[in-house]
Amino acid sequence: MQEIIGQLAEKREAARLGGGESRIAAQHAKGKLTARERIEILLDPGSFEEWDMFVEHRCADFGMADQKVPGDGVVTGHGTINGRLVFLFSQDFTVFGGSLSEAHAEKICKVMDHAMRVGAPVIGLNDSGGARIQEGVASLGGYADVFQRNVLASGVIPQLSLIMGPCAGGAVYSPAMTDFILMVKDSSYMFVTGPEVVKTVTHEEVTAEELGGAVTHTTRSGVADLAFENDVEALMITRRLVSYLPPSNREKPPTIPTEDPADRCDASLDTLVPDNPNKPYDIKELIFKVVDEYDFFELQPDHAKNIVIGFGHMDGQPIGIVANQPLVLAGCLDIKSSIKAARFVRFCDAFNIPIVTFVDVPGFMPGTSQEYGGIIKHGAKLLYAYAEATVPKVTVITRKAYGGAYDVMSSKHLRGDVNFAWPSAEIAVMGPKGAVEIIFRKDIGDAQKIAERTDEYRRKFANPFIAGHRGFIDDVIQPRETRKRICRSLKVLRDKRLENPWRKHGNMPL
Ligand code: HXC
Repeated sequence: MQEIIGQLAEKREAARLGGGESRIAAQHAKGKLTARERIEILLDPGSFEEWDMFVEHRCADFGMADQKVPGDGVVTGHGTINGRLVFLFSQDFTVFGGSLSEAHAEKICKVMDHAMRVGAPVIGLNDSGGARIQEGVASLGGYADVFQRNVLASGVIPQLSLIMGPCAGGAVYSPAMTDFILMVKDSSYMFVTGPEVVKTVTHEEVTAEELGGAVTHTTRSGVADLAFENDVEALMITRRLVSYLPPSNREKPPTIPTEDPADRCDASLDTLVPDNPNKPYDIKELIFKVVDEYDFFELQPDHAKNIVIGFGHMDGQPIGIVANQPLVLAGCLDIKSSIKAARFVRFCDAFNIPIVTFVDVPGFMPGTSQEYGGIIKHGAKLLYAYAEATVPKVTVITRKAYGGAYDVMSSKHLRGDVNFAWPSAEIAVMGPKGAVEIIFRKDIGDAQKIAERTDEYRRKFANPFIAGHRGFIDDVIQPRETRKRICRSLKVLRDKRLENPWRKHGNMPL
């Protein structure tokens, strides 16, 4: 017995040491924490329960039979974040470069299966050289087993990926199928093929950081949601992100007590929208002023900035916010912003998070690059996402709501539950100038006539009342009362029930 206990202690020690002191030092020298250090920061102190610490690979080729490290390059198990259960895996780069063997994949699959059974989020800390080269196809099979689980878990439990080192080749497709990707600047990258292959095939010279670093993916590609300066920051913010999420699609997201009165008014909002309809303003000012404690958790802040997405609380209840941003491209919907918002709306809908939408949109972005890029199909994604969403939907039109974009942005017609407009709202087929130039084309040379017509159109249509007459908006509200009215609406909608017709799945325009 003593002997076994001794062996247990030795094995635990060996597992904890991973690839050994020198590799741990090398990891630290790169500014990276080890797999276990990361878990300690991510989880509540003392809450981590490790599984499969003694799993070893089964490969005998290339001298691997003599090279076994307990745990096989990934630390798995469960713990809590602010007292709430999560499952996780953390790849250990010090063991065979965190590469994925058959056994390593089985460990990941085990935590995913448990998370699905009990209904809890899975968090993956990725730091891996990819498929364990010595294992060949067994490793590829392991990846596919993880992919399959990612897909079946999608919309059932929240899945979060932190990229904290290399993540290349087919390995990128597991994080890609999770709900959120968070990356660390300068020490992580994601790409399907690396700089050397790129150089050979396309003759482009590019560094790993430029090709697939955190900045690239949070600005240009939109693959990742957030970029952080270091591991600690990424892990701490992940804790915060988890606080908005329900454990699974079977439950509502957790409410938190707040000191912020639900009926708090903010007089400064009355002057947020400038008198000149062509002058921009910052929609984030509105968001910050209406959410609980001015606390807004923005996602993808540096990608497709013409739309703002993120989480907040209203009267303690988590909500997802989608808002056109007049400061960027006048708030137009284009390909990137449609995709960004559509995926977020679908996430919120899958996980019972009410959606609050702030609308100031002059329309879809014109141009050949948009049309050739498929704005028809991509814009339809946002329309589809809003239309299929059955969670509570509250919409506030602050200024422009023109054309198809009016319909798309959580309008009454797409089952918006409560649709408000500010007095400054302009709900019309298009802006006054464009409208007059079309319907009074023959007068185009007569500047005075055009000005008169434009003025007439503005008086007639550039207001919220035409839509109000038809019940397309439920009320015209004072900007200062926006928080109060949204909080009240969300309270009324708390037990909303709405189901879409049964189908195997829809065929959204991908
Ligand atoms: C086995 C690996 C490994 C791998 C790294 N190592 N990648 N072992 N399989 N895929 C080992 C190294 O041998 C080394 O062992 C240790 O991990 C650290 O690697 P270094 O090269 O010293 O580290 P670094 O200089 O930081 O470079 C990291 C790296 C590089 C860029 C990830 O190791 C690398 O290019 N690895 C190969 C990547 C790759 O081609 N993977 C397969 C891709 S295909 P020692 O003992 O010296 O410490 C793929 C397909 C997935 O992943 C398909 C899914 C469908």
